Amino acid sequence: MKGNELRQAYLQFFESKGHLKLDTFSLIPENDPSLLLIGAGMAPLKPFFTGKLVPPCHRITTSQTCMRTGDLENVGRTARHHTFFEMLGNFSFGDYFKKEAIHWAWEFLTEVIKLDKNRLYVTVYPDDQEAYDTWHKECGVEESHISRLEDNFWEIGEGPCGPDSEIFFDQGPEHGCDDPNCAPGCDCDRYLEIWNLVFTQFNKMPDGSYEPLQHKNIDTGAGLERLASVLQGCRTNFETDLIYPIIEATAKRAGVTYNDNPNTDVSLKVIADHARAVTALISDGVLPSNEGRGYVLRRILRRAVRHGRLLGIEGIFLTPLVDVVVDILGPGIKSIAEKKDFVKRVVQNEEERFNQTLEQGLELLNSLIDTLAAEKATVVPGSEVFKLYDTYGFPWELTEEIASERGFTIDHEGFEAAMKEQRERAREARVKEDAKVATP
Ligand code: ALA
Repeated sequence: MKGNELRQAYLQFFESKGHLKLDTFSLIPENDPSLLLIGAGMAPLKPFFTGKLVPPCHRITTSQTCMRTGDLENVGRTARHHTFFEMLGNFSFGDYFKKEAIHWAWEFLTEVIKLDKNRLYVTVYPDDQEAYDTWHKECGVEESHISRLEDNFWEIGEGPCGPDSEIFFDQGPEHGCDDPNCAPGCDCDRYLEIWNLVFTQFNKMPDGSYEPLQHKNIDTGAGLERLASVLQGCRTNFETDLIYPIIEATAKRAGVTYNDNPNTDVSLKVIADHARAVTALISDGVLPSNEGRGYVLRRILRRAVRHGRLLGIEGIFLTPLVDVVVDILGPGIKSIAEKKDFVKRVVQNEEERFNQTLEQGLELLNSLIDTLAAEKATVVPGSEVFKLYDTYGFPWELTEEIASERGFTIDHEGFEAAMKEQRERAREARVKEDAKVATP
C-alpha cells in the first residue's frame, strides 16, 4: 500500500465511524502562543478539547502535518527521526471514549491494513484496568502482549493531556538489542511504536497543575511514515515511497549510491527530511528569517544545503527537490499542491544567498578548527561563532554541529554576548539616526 493510499484508507475508515474528515491545519499555530509550530495532530484542535470552541463535529479525523525540531541532530542518523512528518489521528470531543478508540484502532490495524496480530503489542498506564481489559478481553490481545508502563501519559506543554495506550509492531529480533528485558518501550528498533491512543481527561495549566476536563476526549496519533514503513517492509521510514524518491533524486544529482556509505546516507536522509520540511513550512507561509519560525526554517534549509556540499553537489539542488516533494505530497496535502512555484522561489532565493557565503564560511571554520586543534583547544570561541553567523549566515547550531563532528564544542556564552553587543550597537545607531532626523 502506497503512503497516499494509507492516508486515505485511515481517513475513510474513521469517516465510516462517523468522523468528519478535515484537511490538515497549517503548521503555524493559530491563537496559541504556547507553541512555535504544530507538533501533533491534536495541537490545532486544543480549543475543542478544552471546550473553548465548539467543534464542527464531535468526531474529527485528520492527517496533520507536524514539525518537531527538538532533536534535529538525530535526523538522518536513525531510522525514524524526522523534523516533518504526518500524524494520522481520530479525535473525540466529549463523544466516544476509551473502548471505541481501542476497538477501532485494533480493527483498522488487523482488518483494514491487515497487520499480523502476533506482531502487535500494547502498553497501558499502570492503573488503567479498563484499557487493559478492553485490549485483552474484548480485542483478544494475549496477556503476554500487554504491558503496564508508568510513562504512558501524554502531554505537550500546556493543554489537554491524559494517560495513554501505545501500540507497537514487532519488527523481529534481528532489529533488536541484546538486552534480555527488551520489550515494547525499549529504545532499540525491535518494537516500533505505531500508534498512540490518548485518553484526554486533564488540562495542564500554565502553572503546571492538572485540572480535570469537563468532558472526556480521545486524541490519537499514528505516524504515517512509520505505518507506511511497516506496510512496505522498509528498514527505515526513509525508504518508503513518501520519502525515497527525494533520496533517489539527490543521489542522482550527487552521483552517489544510497546504502553504499554510512556518511553519504546520513546526508541523503538529512536532505530528504529537510526538503519535505522546508516545502511544508513555506507552503504554510513561513519565510526565512533570524527569529522564531523563520529561523527554524532558515536553520533547516541551510543545514540541508551544507549536507549537499558534503555530498559534493555544487550549485542549486534543493530548489528542484521541491518538485519531487510536491509530486509525492501534493496529492494528499492541498496546501502543498497549491504553493509550488512560490515555495521554489523562496527556496531558490535562500539557497543562492547561502551558497554565496557557504564556501568561505566553511573554509574559515575548518582552518580555525585546525588552528585550535594545534593549540590543543577544544572550544570554538563565541566571537568566531558570531562572525560565522553575522558574515557568512551560519546559524550557530550549524557551526556547533560541524564543530562537534570534529570533536569541538562552541562557546555559547561568548556567542550570546557578541549577539547582545550587536543588538546594542544597532540600537545606538538607530537612536543616532533618529536624532539626526529630528535635528532641523
Ligand atoms: N497526541 C498524541 C501524540 O502525539 C496522540 O502522540
